[in-house]
Amino acid sequence: MNSWLALATTIAVARAFSVSGTSLLDSDHVYKVDTVEQPPSDFSIKATSTRKQSVLASSNSSSTTLPWQSGMSFIDSDSNNESYTVNVTIGDSEYPLLIDTGSAYLWIYDSNCTDSSCSGKQLYPISSGTNSSSSFSLAYSSGSASGKVVTDTLQLGSLSADEFEFGAASSVPDLFEDYSFSGVLGLPAVNSSNGLTNLVTFLKNQETISQGTFALCLGSYDTALDGSNNGLLVLGKDIQELYDGSIHYSSVVENTNNYWQVVVDSVSADSYQISFDEAEIDGQDSQTKRLAVVDSGTTSIVAASADATKIHSFFSDSITDGDNFAILCNSTLTLNFKIAGSSWSLGPDDYLGNAYGSGKYDGYCVSNIVGSSSLDNGTWILGSLFLRNYYVSFDLDQSRLGLADRNSVEIVASMSSASPTQSTVSASSTASTGSASSASTLSTKTSSVSTSKATSASSSVSAASLSSASSATVSNLAGKLQLASPLLLLSLLSLI
Ligand SMILES: *[C@@H]1O[C@H](CO)[C@@H](O)[C@H](O)[C@H]1NC(C)=O
Ligand SMILES: *[C@@H]1O[C@H](CO)[C@@H](O)[C@H](O)[C@H]1NC(C)=O
Ligand SMILES: *[C@@H]1O[C@H](CO)[C@@H](O)[C@H](O)[C@H]1NC(C)=O
Ligand SMILES: *[C@@H]1O[C@H](CO)[C@@H](O)[C@H](O)[C@H]1NC(C)=O
Ligand SMILES: *[C@@H]1O[C@H](CO)[C@@H](O)[C@H](O)[C@H]1NC(C)=O
Ligand SMILES: *[C@@H]1O[C@H](CO)[C@@H](O)[C@H](O)[C@H]1NC(C)=O
Ligand SMILES: *[C@@H]1O[C@H](CO)[C@@H](O)[C@H](O)[C@H]1NC(C)=O
Ligand SMILES: *[C@@H]1O[C@H](CO)[C@@H](O)[C@H](O)[C@H]1NC(C)=O
Repeated sequence: MNSWLALATTIAVARAFSVSGTSLLDSDHVYKVDTVEQPPSDFSIKATSTRKQSVLASSNSSSTTLPWQSGMSFIDSDSNNESYTVNVTIGDSEYPLLIDTGSAYLWIYDSNCTDSSCSGKQLYPISSGTNSSSSFSLAYSSGSASGKVVTDTLQLGSLSADEFEFGAASSVPDLFEDYSFSGVLGLPAVNSSNGLTNLVTFLKNQETISQGTFALCLGSYDTALDGSNNGLLVLGKDIQELYDGSIHYSSVVENTNNYWQVVVDSVSADSYQISFDEAEIDGQDSQTKRLAVVDSGTTSIVAASADATKIHSFFSDSITDGDNFAILCNSTLTLNFKIAGSSWSLGPDDYLGNAYGSGKYDGYCVSNIVGSSSLDNGTWILGSLFLRNYYVSFDLDQSRLGLADRNSVEIVASMSSASPTQSTVSASSTASTGSASSASTLSTKTSSVSTSKATSASSSVSAASLSSASSATVSNLAGKLQLASPLLLLSLLSLI
């Protein structure tokens, strides 16, 4: 067969997300938020009114033990908790993959990749997968991830996916350079996108798991062992011991990007309900409702620009350059998102980034809530900073997202578990996420604020170059923070 004659080519067009993370203000263009937006006059900050519920609020006793179960995998994160990964085994090797609920399928760096992002990473030997006539390409703000679609047997925890189809990338954009993972475990809100099936649906179709669901619990479970972890991913079921009370479900609002997008019924600053600019939310104009994309591949909280400005007007003396904000490090406000009838909050530990240190902005911290002009009005991205407070259930079978309070359990891993870390894992307080720690956390914050990847700010650039080949698939959503994960659409092209 002539190498140039492809039978079929799968082209995935990503929503090229800009990768600019929470970054320092552009000091040439700083202005006070209250010069453009004022909080309502009847808003008065009730500093201690609503505290974020501690992760361990109701069951600090950790008397519950949870045996290690099939479907469970420990999560790792980088030192800044910017990215959360699981180890996936293919052949003899283990590959850390970014857990990304914002992208549609799994892809991995292959051994043919010579880009700087692939240097020093565990690379998938391209020759080991079976032949394929398909290729894939995901457009990111700073280039494309592209390569072949291959089939191989893959293992996550004790679960094995036989003849699973995924992308092997010989070309990986620079924005991945600083992260140690070797690819992306895309877990979208649909079973498959024109050709590639996500791992959870695949395992269900293969009858390895009984339900098309997965749960994410970001944040560490203490372990008596040397190895650390930064959470649990559970495929195929919900495990009651991991949460308190019941799971509150919200239907996924259908969208062309396959995002886990849900309606936020209202947002409040402490107990004050915020009135935003009118936006169309799930077919209805509203000033209180918003849309939230729940995305584990984004670190921060991102809001359409107008909403970000509005939110920051509730923080006294906040300043901005238009997209990035700085707020006083001693802020105590709690932001509450009402989803599925319950309130889910963000406190200082979540929204306060690094301190500016002494100098012009002494007393200010980077705000982890960022504005993005490429997000549709009324749309937010709730990234891992939000997720890490909760037990989050992603239900593909019923197209719904569930939230619950995380529980403290002692996880007892049996010797038979396929996890590399064995024996007893005791979970205790992630109480560090509680409010009490904020003071000490702040004092250790330095001015070495995460370097912005602002260079990649031009979103959907590379998507455009693919658009001619893929009709209506290129669209225009958002800029993604820290980690541009491929928010993508697939279109199958027959070239002959
Ligand atoms: C929670 O744990 C802490 C530290 O282990 C302990 O001092 C406290 O009494 C516990 N509280 C409850 C309600 O069990
Ligand atoms: C994942 O693999 C890395 C490298 O082998 C290892 O250091 C880490 O402990 C593993 N993580 C888990 C949760 O098993
Ligand atoms: C890997 O690179 C070599 C050399 O450039 C090329 O001949 C081969 O076709 C590539 N393999 C794949 C699967 O792309
Ligand atoms: C690709 O592999 C399949 C088996 O996995 C085989 O049937 C087919 O002939 C192969 N195609 C080519 C072009 O080598
Ligand atoms: C990352 O999260 C863990 C809890 O899972 C916490 O102990 C640790 O301090 C966090 N690291 C940073 C840099 O915030
Ligand atoms: C918060 O910090 C600012 C700047 O450092 C200071 O002016 C203000 O008095 C502080 N507010 C409280 C309540 O401590
Ligand atoms: C978003 O809101 C701004 C300000 O109200 C408006 O100018 C813009 O057209 C809106 N954009 C969309 C996509 O609705
Ligand atoms: C995924 O497939 C299952 C059948 O296995 C179906 O019940 C469910 O509705 C599908 N989910 C979506 C989001 O299409």
